[in-house]
Amino acid sequence: MSGTDSSGVTKTVWLERDDLLSKAPSYPQLTSDAKTDVVVVGGGIAGLHIAYELLSTGQKKVILLEDGKIGSGETGRTTGHLSADIEYNDFLKLHGADGTAQIAAAQQAAIDRIASIVEKHQIDCDFVRVSGYMFHGLPTGSADFRLDILEELYNAAENTATFRPTKYIQGLAKAVSDMGGEIYEKTRYMSHSEENGGVTASLDNDKKVQAQSLVMATNVPLQKLVMIERVEALRTYAVALKIRSEDVSSNGEQALWWDLGDPYHYVRVTPSKQEGYSLLVVGGEDEKVGKHDDYEERFQRLESWARERWTSAGDVQYKWSGQVLDSPDGIAYIGRDPGEDNVYVHTGDNGDGLTYAAIGGILISDLILGKENPWAHTFSPSRQHSGSHLKQALKTLPDVVKENLSDQVYFTKWITTCTKTMTDIEDLVPGQGDVVRQGLSPVAVYKDEQGQVHKMTAICPHLKGIVAWNSAEKSFDCPIHGSRFTCKGEVVNGPAKGPLQPK
Ligand SMILES: Cc1cc2nc3c(=O)[nH]c(=O)nc-3n(C[C@H](O)[C@H](O)[C@H](O)COP(=O)(O)OP(=O)(O)OC[C@H]3O[C@@H](n4cnc5c(N)ncnc54)[C@H](O)[C@@H]3O)c2cc1C
Ligand code: FES
Repeated sequence: MSGTDSSGVTKTVWLERDDLLSKAPSYPQLTSDAKTDVVVVGGGIAGLHIAYELLSTGQKKVILLEDGKIGSGETGRTTGHLSADIEYNDFLKLHGADGTAQIAAAQQAAIDRIASIVEKHQIDCDFVRVSGYMFHGLPTGSADFRLDILEELYNAAENTATFRPTKYIQGLAKAVSDMGGEIYEKTRYMSHSEENGGVTASLDNDKKVQAQSLVMATNVPLQKLVMIERVEALRTYAVALKIRSEDVSSNGEQALWWDLGDPYHYVRVTPSKQEGYSLLVVGGEDEKVGKHDDYEERFQRLESWARERWTSAGDVQYKWSGQVLDSPDGIAYIGRDPGEDNVYVHTGDNGDGLTYAAIGGILISDLILGKENPWAHTFSPSRQHSGSHLKQALKTLPDVVKENLSDQVYFTKWITTCTKTMTDIEDLVPGQGDVVRQGLSPVAVYKDEQGQVHKMTAICPHLKGIVAWNSAEKSFDCPIHGSRFTCKGEVVNGPAKGPLQPK
């Protein structure tokens, strides 16, 4: 996330409370060529776990590159559940009994690993093991959702936890640094080449990092189309409502709750700054990027959903959104990048990226050190999706990929259905943007707070997707592979490498 402290403009519970930008330690920019054993790209929870595990072995030197600040990607915008996925019925159909057993074992091990890191480094991040409850046919209108009644109503899931993600990764970054890992912020990876049994990563300031191995932990895959097309970008939403602590916990115990709706919802509780009060963090309402411009309605639906169930909930104190990446078979891709020898990739969080990050740390470290790992096959980025449930699973791929549309057909489809033209710009309120048609060109427009209009091409420089305006986070988002741009066209995240060009 180029140079800023978050990939969205809305404030999350964590970014405000932990004040990421001003209080978090800063790391320098890399301004000269460098050499190391492993270069990790991405300073979110995944990149930090991978760096941590490699350094813990004492066998590898690590350089970690982050183009914004540590935690400025989706890790700073998460809701902080550490959950073992409990939809194992779906996994059984897609991954078989052995694969499902590996997924379950890996997820349990991941949460235990995070617990042990918190303890070893005394990371002050409110890590707490909690019970998880799956709502079945959730009743509404109850003012009392305390654990004692939930016990009787819902299935409990063992071994789930919550923490403050920004505090956790600040502690993890310190541990990485204390073990000799070099962390660089505001340092952007652009490309790499493999030669002589090693890898050279090139940066946006023309500096180079030479290493034996490269790990791409950028959340959205940046390089290979074969990986980029395997994930679908979704926008997910969260609101935090003030509530009396006694209304959401019993004997000080907390819980996580989920439903299986479409769109689905989940709830967690985190302490509020005010004594005796908590924040009810409600998330979900996921939708494909750029499909609908109904951001405010989604926040409102989350709020209404919560109020129907926790009737004593007070005002909404935070609302924010972020991007997650789904894979067709519901689990992350972790392992060697297809077709490369010394390059590894970690992507496809499926909304469970905090847990996958700890799996990625263990698995990628083992692969780089040449150690056998029983999870390697299950999470392999080269795995083939097969079986009778593939058709169902593939429905999550982007429409344009599924339908295999040519650029021309995709473009014509957009241009003939876009009803907004340049004259609609007059109606834009300051601080908002839109995508309109100017003749046969899609144009991204943003009216700044002073009323000045900024015009850019709306064609994504990655592979010519047409971006959509995200009014919640004031960005232009590409529905094809999830590239995002600020309201003035700068890259928020790839795979696009360059900005939306001014018009
Ligand atoms: C609202 C919301 C709620 C969520 N709730 C949960 C939850 O409860 N539980 C859960 O497990 N998951 C949840 N998730 C998902 C989870 O937050 C993510 O999966 C996870 O944080 C991803 O971590 P990451 O390290 O892979 O990616 P990120 O945190 O996005 O880190 C990737 C980093 O790479 C950097 N980067 C990108 N490109 C470059 C480049 N070219 N050069 C250098 N650096 C680069 C970015 O700046 C970024 O900091 C949620 C997500 C959202 C948005
Ligand atoms: S992200 Fe690939 S076309 Fe926009």
